[in-house]
Amino acid sequence: MPVDNEIYNRPGDIWWDESQPLSAIRTAINPARIEYFTRVLRKLEIDPAGRTVVDIGCGGGLFAEDWARMGAHVIGVDPSGSSLDTARRHAAAAGLNIDYRQGSGETLPVEEGSVDIACCVDVLEHVNELDTVIAETARVLRSGGVYLFDTINRTRLSKFVMIKLLQDWHFTAWMPPNLHAWEQFITPEELRDAMNRHRLSAGGFVGIGPGVKPLTLIRLTRQLRKGRISHGEFGDRARFVVTRDLRVAYAGYSTKSA
Ligand SMILES: C[S@@+](CC[C@H](N)C(=O)[O-])C[C@H]1O[C@@H](n2cnc3c(N)ncnc32)[C@H](O)[C@@H]1O
Repeated sequence: MPVDNEIYNRPGDIWWDESQPLSAIRTAINPARIEYFTRVLRKLEIDPAGRTVVDIGCGGGLFAEDWARMGAHVIGVDPSGSSLDTARRHAAAAGLNIDYRQGSGETLPVEEGSVDIACCVDVLEHVNELDTVIAETARVLRSGGVYLFDTINRTRLSKFVMIKLLQDWHFTAWMPPNLHAWEQFITPEELRDAMNRHRLSAGGFVGIGPGVKPLTLIRLTRQLRKGRISHGEFGDRARFVVTRDLRVAYAGYSTKSA
């Protein structure tokens, strides 16, 4: 079964409402993303303030808003019109100025060489044409620009955690069915090869995983399944951290060569 990207067109706020599964992205994963990406940018001596950032596959703007708060000029691109409606409404209510555009990673509605930072989080495993998305990302980045990403590795462990535990098994699943398809997960080697083909030199990879022990995670999952905590609270308590284990989720960066 391929991934079901229609999930993102569901009516209502599927992103910021803490009773919705996707809201856990903000509380669980965004702090680790910010920590790692900030570390990378500091190492590259790039201050995001005043820079142009494109958030590819921005969804409801959960991460785009973090970039805007860091003072960047943010362009958020996503194929889903209803997700963009939510993103626009939320940014307006938060007093943030973000330029949301409908489009896909395969054909970005962004001018060539106009972007300092391209960010693509939790998206590459949802696209049909990985190589085209990487080529487009390289096209819109200026020379020396940075690509920041996270995605899911295609390993036995990721099949167990992301597909069996979180989607398939009745007693543990809390993510929508077909949110992810194991066959569409990407190994770091495949991603590195794709980036190399398009003048993006890989800088490094790190793992991203729960900051609590497995038993605590199981307890939190049970509380979530029984409705005792919201998805937002679950994310808060399972708070992901940067690790050395790339077997499930990983993040990384590359820079565009001249
Ligand atoms: C799991 S969500 C991640 C959203 C956001 N990046 C975040 O982390 O909060 C995946 C997003 O990828 C978008 N998407 C699916 N196919 C895409 C494509 N070909 N190009 C760009 N975005 C795509 C979906 O509409 C959805 O908003």
